[in-house]
Amino acid sequence: MHGEWSTRLAFILAATGSAVGLGNIWRFPYTTGEYGGGAFVLVYLLCVAGIGIPIMMAEVMLGRRGRQSPINTMRTLASEEGKSPAWQLLGWLGIVAGFTILSFYSVVAGWTLAYVFRTASGVFQGATADGVTSIFGNLVGDPERLLAWHTIFIAMTIVVVSRGVSHGLEKAVRFLMPALFVLLIAMVGYAMNTGYFAAGLEYLFTPDFSKLTTKGVLSAMGQAFFSLSLGMGAIMIYGSYLNHRTSIARTSIVIALMDSLVAIVSAMAIFPIIFANDLDPELGPGMVFKVLPIAFGHMPGGTFFGTLFFVLLVFAAWTSAISLLEPVVAWLVENRGYNRVFASAWAGVVTWLLGVVSLLSLNAWSDYKVFGMGFMGLFDFLATNILLPLGGFLIAIFAGWYLSRASSLDELNMGDRFAYRFWRALIRYVTPIAVGVVFLRAIKVL
Ligand code: PHE
Repeated sequence: MHGEWSTRLAFILAATGSAVGLGNIWRFPYTTGEYGGGAFVLVYLLCVAGIGIPIMMAEVMLGRRGRQSPINTMRTLASEEGKSPAWQLLGWLGIVAGFTILSFYSVVAGWTLAYVFRTASGVFQGATADGVTSIFGNLVGDPERLLAWHTIFIAMTIVVVSRGVSHGLEKAVRFLMPALFVLLIAMVGYAMNTGYFAAGLEYLFTPDFSKLTTKGVLSAMGQAFFSLSLGMGAIMIYGSYLNHRTSIARTSIVIALMDSLVAIVSAMAIFPIIFANDLDPELGPGMVFKVLPIAFGHMPGGTFFGTLFFVLLVFAAWTSAISLLEPVVAWLVENRGYNRVFASAWAGVVTWLLGVVSLLSLNAWSDYKVFGMGFMGLFDFLATNILLPLGGFLIAIFAGWYLSRASSLDELNMGDRFAYRFWRALIRYVTPIAVGVVFLRAIKVL
């Protein structure tokens, strides 16, 4: 009954669709700016390589072995290995993280939808940095507009998930992702002509460790989890639809490389424009929306390319949002006996409600702060920097210590050779210790 991707490529496309999204183009650049550039980027890349790739392999492996929603997969695998059924709590943790992320993700995807029409209207033609900033301010200051776009985006997500995730996903990712990438490269081309390209590169690739705080390291790690869709079961559930012939190791590496490339390329497009317009790298969550429109306003065909860019970004966000909702929908179908349509609608409405809290925190409720953060910032911080790394930590412990060596050897199917042993050393020691140390240090300073 449990479906399968038609080919290895289908899985790569779906997982890439999950990974590449607002995390790369919206979140990565502004977080990089918030923590001072180069050193943050370096730590982020180290986290992708040393933590992200081994955990991605573990998640795909567990998913393929369990072949159910993350909660049931964890329960089944734990019982097969004679371990405590409490491991299913890992699946629950993922559900909470997924709801939390999708709630604010949808709000930001709503900004993106709004910008499709904004850009198409031509308002950015010849716009100054100040003009662009105030257009963004008007949008986030208007709860009604935010609510409308947020609602539309959640509805779009429900529609796809209710039909089953394989429908259309493959095609959308196969054509739209490369198109998005080409446009990003074109934006880098524009950035090269601003006269500040070298300054941008220096900012991104010359690490200045004096700027790197403990919180910056925690955020770089969180960003790696967020961007690779790890720690909450999204990649696990996609892995559950994967056939047995595909090499998990190679596939995971390809996905992680593509994902990081998109993030780096978008930062390379954005920062030179920031410096050329004398803007502050600490622009915050509005960064892409405040920076790229300046470029669209000044380049030939800018209205057309800008509109296309935001359309493609909506698609990238959409294919990620689908994977955020899928684990909980699969569970509702398996355990509650709901049909997919009802399950998707139910989960979508819960996320929608939480998203309303997020979007109000940008305007009507902007005075309410918890730990100095508005609700949207708080949801993002909790999910990205705490829940995802915690989920990843537990996945590493389970895959490295609780799942028997024979089982992981069998499922990864790469022979008892160096590559397998290397992965196992990473997942048993390096990954959990790295996440643990970052957490412990962060607790002291938070
Ligand atoms: N990886 C997605 C992005 O970068 C977001 C995401 C996080 C998706 C966690 C699924 C799970 O936009």
